[in-house]
Amino acid sequence: MLKLENVSRRFATFTAVNGVTLSIPAGQMVGVIGRSGAGKSTLLRMLNRLIDPSGGRIGFGETDVTALRGAKLRRWQRDCAMIFQQFNLVPRIDVLTNVLLGRLNHRNTVLNLLGIFSDEERVKALAALDRLGIAQTALQMAGTLSGGQQQRVAIARALMQEPKVILADEPIASLDPLNAEIVMDALRDINEKEGITVITNLHTLDTARAYCERIVGLAAGEVVFDGAPEALTSDVVRRIYGADDKALSEHITSTSISRPRAEAAQAPQRFRPVLEAG
Ligand SMILES: Nc1ncnc2c1ncn2[C@@H]1O[C@H](COP(=O)(O)OP(=O)(O)OP(=O)(O)O)[C@@H](O)[C@H]1O
Ligand SMILES: [Mg+2]
Repeated sequence: MLKLENVSRRFATFTAVNGVTLSIPAGQMVGVIGRSGAGKSTLLRMLNRLIDPSGGRIGFGETDVTALRGAKLRRWQRDCAMIFQQFNLVPRIDVLTNVLLGRLNHRNTVLNLLGIFSDEERVKALAALDRLGIAQTALQMAGTLSGGQQQRVAIARALMQEPKVILADEPIASLDPLNAEIVMDALRDINEKEGITVITNLHTLDTARAYCERIVGLAAGEVVFDGAPEALTSDVVRRIYGADDKALSEHITSTSISRPRAEAAQAPQRFRPVLEAG
């Protein structure tokens, strides 16, 4: 269980996140929505302590995440993998090595300095790529892949961390609808098969509705909705995005992703379960 109690973040005099309280049980897939500037990225970054809250407490099980320092903080950041809109791969090295970089926090400094990975780690990295349907790209330079492929590499790298939580900050905002669907299907598959908690910021409402069992709506740094997609009435949607019709239509139309979870469960399996290495 991930618990946020009255979490806030100020930048100088501006409050970006204001008194957010949420309990997220292990294994949930949560979509965070809200208009630009609502505080979605700030909230996600506080969860893995890329930035520190100005107030409040974040807990994970018995751990007070807000109090972690040094090695314990690094361990939390390993448990809490992050996926970004811009993929954040190293473009001039091959895909397999990019995926292996997900192991760095599991290893000692000397091995990392020497860049030595074990056969077991390589097998695991290949299995992660295979699971995401891109094993054939393993030896290509990451920068030569399409956006959708690069985001799948980033997910494979996140899996190598063996995380308990995956935090994805607008993972499909740079992708076309087909690649967006492949990436969201991959996140859902990981959530359902491994039971890894997924918390993802999403730009469009349709995607959040289709993929997330729970939606958190932020407006001006505050939670204005927290519930199942079915409870998102048009009034609630206006509260989240504001009554400005232009902003509303921007978030509601756009993607072609609209396959509900239950229906997707019956669809042919696109991803293989990850092979257990070692
Ligand atoms: N480092 C910072 N310094 C000052 N202000 C910041 C900083 N980071 C974020 N903010 C402000 O906090 C508010 C929330 O930003 P945040 O990036 O969390 O929004 P968001 O909901 O992710 O928006 P978007 O949909 O555009 O990504 C914005 O007004 C932003 O300008
Ligand atoms: Mg953002």
